[in-house]
Amino acid sequence: MCHHNRFLLLNVAKSDIISLVFQVDETLCPFKLSQEQLQLVKARMRAGLEAGLKTKGSSAIKMLPSYVYRTPDGTEHGKYLALDLGGTNFRAMMVNFKRQNARLYHKIYTIPLEIMQGTGEELFDHIAQCVSDFLDYMGMKNAHLPAGFTFSFPCEQTAIDTVSGTLVSWTKGYKATDCEGHDVVSMLREAIKRRNEFDLDIVAVVNDTVGTMMSCAYEDPQCEIGLIAGTGTNVCYMEEVDAELSKMCINTEWGGLGDDGSLDDIITPYDMEVNQNSINPGRQRFEKLTSGMYLGEIVRQVLLDLTRGGLLFRGHVTETLKTPGIFETKYLSQIERGDMIFCDLANCGTNSLLSVAIMIMDFIVMQVCGAVSRRAAQLCGAGMAAVVDKIRENRGLDHLNITVGVDGALYKLHPHFSRVLKDTTEVLAPQCNVTFLPSEEGSGKGAALISAVARQIGQHRGRYFSTWRVSVCAHNIQFRRELAKGLGRDTNPTAALKMLPTFVRSIPDGSEKGDFIALDLGGSNFRILRVKVSHEKKQTVQMESQIYDTPEDIIHGSGTRLFDHVAECLGDFMEKQNIKDKKLPVGFTFSFPCQQTKLDEGFLITWTKRFKAGGVEGMDVVKLLNKAIKKRGDYDADIMAVVNDTVGTMMTCGFDDQRCEVGIIIGTGTNACYMEELRNIDLVEGDEGRMCVNTEWGAFGDDGRLEDIRTEFDREIDRGSINPGKQLFEKMVSGMYMGELVRLILVKMAREGLVFEGRITPELLTKGKFETKHISAIEKSKEGLSKAREILTRLGVEPSTDDCIAVQHVCTVVSFRSANLIAAALAGILMRLKENKGVARLRTTVGIDGSLYKMHPQYARRLHKAVRRLVPDTDVRFLLSESGSGKGAAMVTAVAYRLAEHSRQIAQILSEFRLTTEQLLEVRKLSQWCVCVCVCVFPCVLCHYLTPS
Ligand code: BG6
Ligand code: BG6
Ligand code: GLC
Ligand code: GLC
Repeated sequence: MCHHNRFLLLNVAKSDIISLVFQVDETLCPFKLSQEQLQLVKARMRAGLEAGLKTKGSSAIKMLPSYVYRTPDGTEHGKYLALDLGGTNFRAMMVNFKRQNARLYHKIYTIPLEIMQGTGEELFDHIAQCVSDFLDYMGMKNAHLPAGFTFSFPCEQTAIDTVSGTLVSWTKGYKATDCEGHDVVSMLREAIKRRNEFDLDIVAVVNDTVGTMMSCAYEDPQCEIGLIAGTGTNVCYMEEVDAELSKMCINTEWGGLGDDGSLDDIITPYDMEVNQNSINPGRQRFEKLTSGMYLGEIVRQVLLDLTRGGLLFRGHVTETLKTPGIFETKYLSQIERGDMIFCDLANCGTNSLLSVAIMIMDFIVMQVCGAVSRRAAQLCGAGMAAVVDKIRENRGLDHLNITVGVDGALYKLHPHFSRVLKDTTEVLAPQCNVTFLPSEEGSGKGAALISAVARQIGQHRGRYFSTWRVSVCAHNIQFRRELAKGLGRDTNPTAALKMLPTFVRSIPDGSEKGDFIALDLGGSNFRILRVKVSHEKKQTVQMESQIYDTPEDIIHGSGTRLFDHVAECLGDFMEKQNIKDKKLPVGFTFSFPCQQTKLDEGFLITWTKRFKAGGVEGMDVVKLLNKAIKKRGDYDADIMAVVNDTVGTMMTCGFDDQRCEVGIIIGTGTNACYMEELRNIDLVEGDEGRMCVNTEWGAFGDDGRLEDIRTEFDREIDRGSINPGKQLFEKMVSGMYMGELVRLILVKMAREGLVFEGRITPELLTKGKFETKHISAIEKSKEGLSKAREILTRLGVEPSTDDCIAVQHVCTVVSFRSANLIAAALAGILMRLKENKGVARLRTTVGIDGSLYKMHPQYARRLHKAVRRLVPDTDVRFLLSESGSGKGAAMVTAVAYRLAEHSRQIAQILSEFRLTTEQLLEVRKLSQWCVCVCVCVFPCVLCHYLTPS
């Protein structure tokens, strides 16, 4: 065709052609948008999105909440009906979800114009009639199926479990009376009732963008945006709902951009004409520049103008060309693909079909179509760039990978639209890698998926779970206050967070070396390690370790027995290592709150987690262990440092990453430490430098701060624990308690007949039978449901698939709350670090350990996301401690050992001079600095010599 064209054009006077092309070009000039103009559109779209979120519905872009909180996770199952109204066709569909697979059956129905623009009752009666026909066709008239209703117009919704959608205003070609301001779900229900032939359980109403996003997310979990480029245009995306830091899909209704005049500078006279002739003048201005319903009309307006100017059809305006709607957008696609000659359509005479004039006209028409469609794709690209950039910034990311689920005839049928859209998005949002995924099966499948999710929520969340979605922001603020309270001298005694000084002043600097023993007591395992740090070309660490049992009767017996047991295990380890004759320096990770005034002393404040050995609280655990070792007399050990596991973890990670200044544990218990400025720690003398503080955040809420979110299950756990009223935060979030929380919820749900057909087994009633590791197994994305079945079967219940889904849901609710609460607290620490450093952007590393964090399939991702959302101006690296806290304890010991060696040498030198008291006083004056260091760091022999008796 193109070659043919060129050949024929050669027969026409060159100057005439150039002049013609020039004039056409001039007419099309306003459609050609510069990069700057597109940037401006992007900025206006962004401003529109923000304004819509703030003003809740009264701005040009409506930003309507959809109450869809998550994309599908593959657990959806069952048969659903989906009704899909508002695109080119009405479609009824049956979807059967089974084992991560969906089977679909559908039928398409047209909605005649007189119905679209008749009364509301007629419209919904017509839909009910189509549904009736479809149910007949499927042979399911009596099935009373749950149904999802895709209604592709702006609707105000309240929540997914109260299924309703109030039509804000019709868009596109619809104008049925008595619908705007009314609930379309009720109208559909009434129409079904009027037919009195079948019944449906309508469980969700969704916009087509939302249905498309869900449908594509079923294939690609990265899909968090839905785009329609069809009769109309619109976008939805997963927005962070900031009060609760969970996400919700927002239907932007971006077609309304420009309704406040913000696009006036790019609107052409042809667009104005199209707007004036539409059924909703002044509204949906962006949609009218970009979507299928209007592009053909814009082209027709341009052609009319060119004809009137004598540039086309020898100035003869035909009746056909004057007919609104005659030039459909599908023709535009066909012409640009080269599948159609416009003159057939323009009815300009057939006898001259192969004449040069016709070919020129074709060429011009192609130019017009190209300009109009290209502008539409570029504008959608600019809009999309605004959306993806917003998501990226919401999540505090430098780079975002995201998938957009797309549907609509314009996107699918036009030869260039998808490419121009993608190119423009890429140029305008260079930090985002956007994949456009066309929806294969329309938005009906998505509506069915939302119905499945809604059913799960409706059945299982209800009153049980309303209090489980905690406000991360509010708890973050409270936590920050508590941190400050714990650090103050006067406020510390009544503070829940004890903010214990650790006397560790820096992370490893690479100079540590030696042969050490590390004891690691208080996590799920008691471990003894030998850590050799050598310093040849570079610092290397060799470790050997052994795990020892700590039976219940020992951790709940007397303190003497506990420390005898530790000493016995240590003896065994040294024997196996062949070092019983050596006096190696020992670092003691003791994962409980200890009051310290120096490194090698730790007075246990209170037992936490499972431990409750008598006579230890209030005692120095280093002394107790030394005593037990001495009592044996078969080996000697030099316990140089006692550290909390958080500190050990921070030091372990600090060995690999010098930026590490926070250590957290999310395991049996939970806790965090971080490097605080000494000037802020009232409990320790001195202002220079930093010191690691053990927050003991597990006690957050012990003063009543968490009462508003503690559930009846949290209270029951607390009542049955070894330390009622204490470690309330820990009891809501950590591994020792989460499994039990799930068990208690399941028992109650079973009692109320919500799961297991009301059956309760003795196993289910046994404390500790449902463990946190079961939560991790059940939340696995692929085999989660089969794991649930396996675990529940072991508990004696014969679960149905619905039961497995319910249990999975309970696990998710419990683990989500945990990750969110920990995120709130961790973000509090990061905010404090940022404030201390006075930087605009914090770059830091958090060392993490603990079985819950390591084993749960989604926990780490959820935590990271929530933290990054709370502190977007921070580049935080989460570094998993691969080798436990023992290595870190050895690092602390290495520093202590070096300092102790140093002071021993000085003591030796001084002892060789027999100084008088006067001489000592003189030396002391000169050595004031040394006293300072000694008071804080270690019991210095030099001080002993310099202090006159
Ligand atoms: C269909 C979806 O595939 O695309 C509809 O199922 C949607 O929900 C439609 O409205 C949009 O495209 P068009 O071109 O039909 O308006
Ligand atoms: C280990 C550390 O890796 O993790 C311990 O070495 C720490 O010091 C423990 O206490 C915490 O996790 P859990 O799950 O064992 O309590
Ligand atoms: C119109 C509707 C919107 C829909 C879009 C695509 O813009 O207002 O709700 O998503 O068309 O069909
Ligand atoms: C408990 C302990 C704390 C420890 C944490 C993680 O909260 O009190 O010291 O760090 O568990 O093991």
